[in-house]
Amino acid sequence: MKNLIDIKDLSTQEIQELIEVAKDIMQHPQNYVEKCKHKKLATLFFEPSTRTRLSFEAAMMELGGNVIGFSSASSSSTAKGESVSDTIRTIGCYSDIIAMRHPKEGAPLVASIKSTVPIINAGDGGHNHPTQTLTDLLTISCEKQRLNNLTIGLCGDLKFGRTVHSLITAMSRYENIKFILISPEELKIPEYVKKEILEKHQIQYIETTSLEEHMKDLDILYMTRVQKERFFNEEDYVRLKDYYILNNSKLTTAKQDLCIMHPLPRVNEISTEVDDDPRAKYFNQVRYGKYIRMALILKMLEIK
Ligand code: NCD
Repeated sequence: MKNLIDIKDLSTQEIQELIEVAKDIMQHPQNYVEKCKHKKLATLFFEPSTRTRLSFEAAMMELGGNVIGFSSASSSSTAKGESVSDTIRTIGCYSDIIAMRHPKEGAPLVASIKSTVPIINAGDGGHNHPTQTLTDLLTISCEKQRLNNLTIGLCGDLKFGRTVHSLITAMSRYENIKFILISPEELKIPEYVKKEILEKHQIQYIETTSLEEHMKDLDILYMTRVQKERFFNEEDYVRLKDYYILNNSKLTTAKQDLCIMHPLPRVNEISTEVDDDPRAKYFNQVRYGKYIRMALILKMLEIK
């Protein structure tokens, strides 16, 4: 695999191998400290990020490699009018692998065509976010000890939430998965995800506007932020932003072993009182993100 643009670029077998390597890194970090010596990762972030960019950078550093990059379009030659293609050709002269986030859907794919080094999509607009999905899969594997037989509630902005699109794509490959898709009418899952993923693979799903209705059935509750930056007008955002707020009282009917996830950043959709509930796993999820990205960098650089 040269590039990771879509989670579908990885087979189920390859995902399993990444999860196993990540678990081994967690147990034996000392075995990995020099694996990427003299290698360079470039992080090109044309859109804001905290976890994705810094976990990639921390991952490369823990493998003994180095990091270069920029964290906003305004501090790169994009501000002077340079094209993504030219930027990518340039960065390929200075680095061995590139992680790139861009507000335009498809930009990392275009970049990968011009690039001389492997490209990782670190989020493209409201489309995909495959490395968040790898993070989510490692989280589920560690916290639930399985990737099959799960009822997964996805709640919030299912329209613009790229993490949701990639996660549905990945989970649809496992046995006996059921989705409860919880969103306001205006933020329902896009038709293409329904047709090309859910219906094509005959995955069971229910669409609802109620967070409480199916709470008792959930094994995983994946909360998401309303994606302010993808809205065309402020009014719609303000009306929808606090549609769901998970708090302790809404969790009273939930299973004892529910796993509550969120890609973060959180705005208001999970009340901070939930953080003390042992079922809240979103900060563990952050930690898993670094380990799976270490495994991914090793795989893409073909380092054993
Ligand atoms: C997500 C993203 O950028 O899509 N964040 C992340 O990478 N952890 C989710 C979000 O921004 O809401």
